[in-house]
This record gives sequence, structure tokens and C-alpha cells, in this order.
Amino acid sequence: MSTLIFATNNQHKVDEIRTVLNNSFSIITLKEAGIDIDIPEPHNTLEANASEKSKVIHQLTQQNCFSEDTGLEVEALNGEPGVKSARYAGDTRDFQKNIDKLLLNLEGKNSRTAQFRTVISLILDDKEYLFEGICKGHITKQQTGEKGFGYDPVFVPEGSKKTFAEMTTEEKNQFSHRRKATDLLIQFLQQHGTH
Ligand code: IMP
Repeated sequence: MSTLIFATNNQHKVDEIRTVLNNSFSIITLKEAGIDIDIPEPHNTLEANASEKSKVIHQLTQQNCFSEDTGLEVEALNGEPGVKSARYAGDTRDFQKNIDKLLLNLEGKNSRTAQFRTVISLILDDKEYLFEGICKGHITKQQTGEKGFGYDPVFVPEGSKKTFAEMTTEEKNQFSHRRKATDLLIQFLQQHGTH
């Protein structure tokens, strides 16, 4: 089984992706690889930020690695918070403040349609490959549930009545953007004989 470094410091993302992987390949986190850096996300697109993260870690380690960047795109807010999802309410990256701002900005809007979009950047043998996963749904009026992270308490995916924060990791993975992008990554790695 091959091993890839997953360029993130977000343990929730690691847990979600590890649940999907089965035995296709294994991942080690930045912490497990002994790397202690806060990787920058300076760009205007998820694609560019994901690329930046995997390239920084590849330069540092010279090893195959991947990263992901995710945004919540809300129709009535012209796609915001989007690439700014982590810092929507300020640089402290406070999940609760971000949710409060989102619910406030959606007050009185007719549409609460939204989607999560994940872009994975893989660097394999010095070449980069991108994979995308989208989960459509809507933003609730009130937050519900304690599980997950970020905007999970206010996002209900299409085909469910529960918010992501009311779901176990396995349930969230039946719907999630990250799961869909990871499936494409797994398929690609299997086709390239690296598993
Ligand atoms: P990142 O820049 O990819 O780490 O993610 C940006 C922000 O989007 C995070 O800080 C979370 O607030 C939010 N986010 C990313 N993925 C999810 C998810 O699966 N559920 C809820 N919120 C998420």
C-alpha cells in the first residue's frame, strides 16, 4: 500500500478521508510527518489554494502528497463565503462567528440554496492533478447538531433532513463534497497502479 502525506492540520478532514480510504492507500498527516507549519491560503480560488498547499509540502519533503481546499458557496450571496469560508467573519477563523454572519446575511433572502465544493491537489511523481467534489444542499435557519466542524450545523445536503452536524462521519461521507473528491483521487491512484 502506498503512503501519501495529507497536507492539512485539520483533524476532522483527516478523519473523514481516512474513513473513505479502506485499504486503497494510507495517509500521514503533517503532524505525523513532523511538519509544523501553518500553510498559507492567499489565493482567490480553491484550486490555487489547494495547489499552493501541496506544492509547499512537496518542496519541503520531496514526497508524493495531496492537499484540499473547500468552500461553502451560497447562491443568494453570489457564491460567498466561497474561498473565504474559513475567515468569513475575520482572521480568527471562528466557526461560530462564521455561522452567525452567514445566518445574518441570509435573513430575508428567498433562496437558501448552497453547495460545498472541495478541490484536491495531488502531487504524484512531480506532476500535479486536480479533483473536484460538490455537495448541493441548503442553509438552515437555525443551527442543529454538535458533530463535525465549520458550517456543518447549518448545512443540510440534498436527500437528507439532517444537518451534517447531526450525522456520524460515515453518514456525512454518503453525501459529502470531500468524499466525492476523494473517490476521484482513489480511482486515479488505482488506475496509476500506485495502490
Ligand atoms: P479550508 O480552507 O479548506 O480549511 O476550509 C475553509 C472553511 O470551510 C473551514 O474553516 C470550514 O469553516 C469550512 N468547511 C470546509 N469543509 C467543511 C465541511 O466539510 N463542513 C463544514 N464546513 C467546512
